[in-house]
Amino acid sequence: MKDASANANAKRLAGEAAADLVKNGMVVGLGTGSTVAWTIKRLGERINGEELEFLGVPTSFQAESLAIASGVSLTTLNVHPILDLAIDGADQVDANLFVIKGGGAAHTREKVVACSARRFVIVADESKHVEKLTWPVPVEVLPFALRLVERKLRNLGGEPVLRLGKMKDGPVITDNGNFVVDANFGTIEDPEELMALLCRIPGVLEHGIFDNLDELYLAREDGVERIKRT
Ligand code: A5P
Repeated sequence: MKDASANANAKRLAGEAAADLVKNGMVVGLGTGSTVAWTIKRLGERINGEELEFLGVPTSFQAESLAIASGVSLTTLNVHPILDLAIDGADQVDANLFVIKGGGAAHTREKVVACSARRFVIVADESKHVEKLTWPVPVEVLPFALRLVERKLRNLGGEPVLRLGKMKDGPVITDNGNFVVDANFGTIEDPEELMALLCRIPGVLEHGIFDNLDELYLAREDGVERIKRT
């Protein structure tokens, strides 16, 4: 897990609060990252303490491993194509509830899972909530198409950087066997337009801008605020 930050306590508050959304019999998408990890751990406590029964669909190897360790029974989108709920973290959420995800290189599966759910909830600390998106957009790229994608991203005004491994020479490889390019567009004035443009680049598997958030669980100093799409 990639977190030992000053916001660790707030992440825990938001993550644990969202675990209360899970009810008996649900099928739930389980996101990736240090905030939703608290949701998964809390769900494990509820399985033991309250005999909560639900099925989880993990969005990454990390989420799958944590869910197994927490005692969560797993299923797949092939068996359960429609989920009751998906809970995940975020890198940034703007005032109109557009989201940037993919700081953990899991955004492709996260988007598939989120779009398979009737309700998509994000858990985050308040440092992630901004007026406008500025975070470099993670883009999962077919390795064969890397140079083309970099050129097209520059043409759109982005500054692409191939994400490199920390304890590995060379690029990060996603759970799907691809590269990730982080494309810095500065302040993103029109996320919807950028989403459409990114989707048109051959070799882009998925970009990290999400437009389907239903509810944000935002941890502030004095508790967790719930911000719903109106
Ligand atoms: C994974 O690829 C990301 O989308 C994460 O959900 C996002 O980076 C949030 O991570 P933290 O909760 O660790 O900040």
